[in-house]
Amino acid sequence: MDFELVSLRLTRAAADKTPALIVLVQDGFTSGEDPISALVRRAIDAGDFATESGKLLASYGAARIAAAHVLLAGIGDGSAAQVRKAVAAAVTALKGAPAKSLTVCFAQAATAGAIAAAVQAVADASYVYTATRTVDKDKDRPKLKQAVIGAPDGDADAVQAEFEQAVGVVRGVQLAREWANRPANHATPTRLAEAAKELGKLPRIECEVLGPKEVAKLGMGAFQAVAQGSGEELRFIVLRYQGAAKGEAPVVLVGKGITFDTGGISLKPAPEMDEMKFDMSGAASVLGTFRALGELKPALNVVGLIPASENMPDGRAIKPGDVVTSMSGQTIEILNTDAEGRLVLCDALSYAERFKPRAVIDIATLTGACVIALGAVRSGLFASDDGLAEALHAAGESALDLCWRMPLDDDYAEGLKTNFADVANVAGRPAGAVTAAKFLQRFAKAYPWAHLDIAGTAWKGGKAKGATGRPVGLLVHYLLGQAGAAAAAEPKPDKSGGKGKPKARRN
Ligand code: BES
Ligand code: MN
Ligand code: ZN
Repeated sequence: MDFELVSLRLTRAAADKTPALIVLVQDGFTSGEDPISALVRRAIDAGDFATESGKLLASYGAARIAAAHVLLAGIGDGSAAQVRKAVAAAVTALKGAPAKSLTVCFAQAATAGAIAAAVQAVADASYVYTATRTVDKDKDRPKLKQAVIGAPDGDADAVQAEFEQAVGVVRGVQLAREWANRPANHATPTRLAEAAKELGKLPRIECEVLGPKEVAKLGMGAFQAVAQGSGEELRFIVLRYQGAAKGEAPVVLVGKGITFDTGGISLKPAPEMDEMKFDMSGAASVLGTFRALGELKPALNVVGLIPASENMPDGRAIKPGDVVTSMSGQTIEILNTDAEGRLVLCDALSYAERFKPRAVIDIATLTGACVIALGAVRSGLFASDDGLAEALHAAGESALDLCWRMPLDDDYAEGLKTNFADVANVAGRPAGAVTAAKFLQRFAKAYPWAHLDIAGTAWKGGKAKGATGRPVGLLVHYLLGQAGAAAAAEPKPDKSGGKGKPKARRN
């Protein structure tokens, strides 16, 4: 989808020949002389519309307004969160309309973050999964091709910058949703690696893929153990984004890439097992983040690591009680083969050491316990470093991709003790999200480390079943913050050839 930012006041918006116009109206709206203001005023006076967030009023063929569809949407205090909700509702309400393009117009100057929220909401609400469906050209094809965001201060530098960043995030989120949504037979470890290789064609991004032989040579016994029950070969994906000097310490992102989690010999129950195709959502968020990096080109170095495999029951599969040796040398007793995420992640965390990273963040649909603790609202955040925790928390708030810090007291690790290995892969049921994080922490001692448990936030179940693309927004906001305002302002060499500062971008 094309996004465009224009400077637009209501007077001009009325004459805009867009097929669909969404007008965002904030509390304390003061009406001008233009036809849109007149419509808003009349609707408010008649009690048919209010600026309260969530209120929608649709009209068709309104007097002296060029757009056929006009949707008034209340955005309350105009905060980013309200704008996101209002735009999502408005775009969804327009879904039946054949419009190829729409304009979202702020009646008043937008508050910080509101432009980005509007862009994200349009993209989210208009995403259609088609990869494995027969597409009816007339009915199913995503119709919306272009979204214009109009704001009275649309030409201000800060608004422009916020807009361009949001379009970059959207591209990353869409890619993450797309890969997470694909079923396990269409998103195998091999296919994920191919998707990563595609990203390697973007400027400043390189991709290397390791197979079973290389992984064995590295001594990744825990990762291998998970993959050994599957007919699909494992892949270990290494992505590199170089936006700063070669010697600069990178941030490393590690994404859990279990393309299907049956539980293995500790088999999961049948109901909703299909949802375990989403168990590579952490990996998808790393791919999405790299997509955004390729677009936004911040001045820092980032490494992405994805251990990708299936977790299957088989004659060759790992059994409860098996002891394996991880890359770190620590032996692990696998008491439950369904606690496989931590097994693939621990070897990736050891591999991360070679980059001498400034921080390592792993992202994983790791525990059902995290879903119970935090639901679908906030991802679980665990960190060995307060500064890192604060930066990630703040990035989540600014991206509207929330997380919440959880504890890592050593007492939580008691249950991981065993007589037969250095550590067990499960403790009891209590505080399951925390004990999983305590397991990972043993392998992440060499650098500041954080872990995001996205089991509750990466996808939605039920009728709206599908991937959310979280936490790409959080990660991109964090990384842009790390790049630093001064460094980001410097012009940088660009493999693709400088093409200036485009206002609109293809999505
Ligand atoms: N992929 C699951 C976690 C999960 C469960 C995510 C439900 C989303 C919804 C993970 O591999 C898993 O199975 N974890 C176990 C750990 C347990 C065996 C200690 C769990 O949460 O039940
Ligand atoms: Mn599992
Ligand atoms: Zn899993």
